[in-house]
Amino acid sequence: MGEDTAQIAVAAWTAVPLHGLADDRPLPFPLFLCTGDDAHVLYRKAGDSVDAAHLGRLRAEGVDRLFVRGDDLPAYYARIESALQDVLLDKAVPLADRADVLHGVARQVVNELFSSPIERVGLRRAQRVITATGALLLRETKAFAAVRAALDSQPELAAHGLRTSMLAMGLARAVLSADAATVGEAGLAGLLHDVGRIGADLGDSDVGHAARGAAMLQKHGLSVTVVAAVRDHHERVDGSGKPNGLRAAAASELGLLVGLADVFDDLYTHRPAGATLFDVLRVLATTGRERFDERCAQALVQLFRR
Ligand SMILES: [Fe+2]
Ligand SMILES: [Fe+2]
Repeated sequence: MGEDTAQIAVAAWTAVPLHGLADDRPLPFPLFLCTGDDAHVLYRKAGDSVDAAHLGRLRAEGVDRLFVRGDDLPAYYARIESALQDVLLDKAVPLADRADVLHGVARQVVNELFSSPIERVGLRRAQRVITATGALLLRETKAFAAVRAALDSQPELAAHGLRTSMLAMGLARAVLSADAATVGEAGLAGLLHDVGRIGADLGDSDVGHAARGAAMLQKHGLSVTVVAAVRDHHERVDGSGKPNGLRAAAASELGLLVGLADVFDDLYTHRPAGATLFDVLRVLATTGRERFDERCAQALVQLFRR
């Protein structure tokens, strides 16, 4: 047995909060309790029911989390997806644990959304994730840092969308308005800004993806604000952007904000080895002075100072 085997054994268990587990549907996976000597014992097998009374008894005994096997995590995330907002707002669960749950659910929903042509059901699921994330961001000031820490830096489109979404929500709260509707629209626009690239990722020179994405989202009934933001996310305040060279007043305000989040994420994800977050912010401050709104650029730095 080598080191790898030991690591797999540890990584095979994930602690999950009790919140969100109660459901009328039978459990699609088994739940385990962790004993004092770190052994995992079966609490409920797959097919069993779990209701509020079960969880209440566990809480009364001082148990505040259960364990699922790593292989069962996709089924766990699917089960709690509809209760995500309740889970995220439960302050009894440490913020880092809630951020992990959010990350798991969001990755799953967004990966499915980006793996095929955009569909209404997938968009509704993404909307629910964004709404829950927005609610958390608005209530807890440390949530941005916690969720950011949970997002890894994989370069693919879905992960890029998710990170840009988080940044756009943080910027919108600081610069536009800290109401749930505004933050939610920023989150959706950030998440979906590159959907026009799905199935046709033609590289950086493909500026047509902005208009294609906007048309797709309009067809699916997303708000005018989100559609305009996706259409304009490559426009820049000084008119140097693409495809139309619109200046600040003519472009979507949210589109310009998403554009900053997008560029930051690209720079940060592809930063040279050894470069820090603050090196990236410094590069952006120097090279982007004229291209981005100054308040937005300052808000970006503030987001990471908390
Ligand atoms: Fe783009
Ligand atoms: Fe992008």
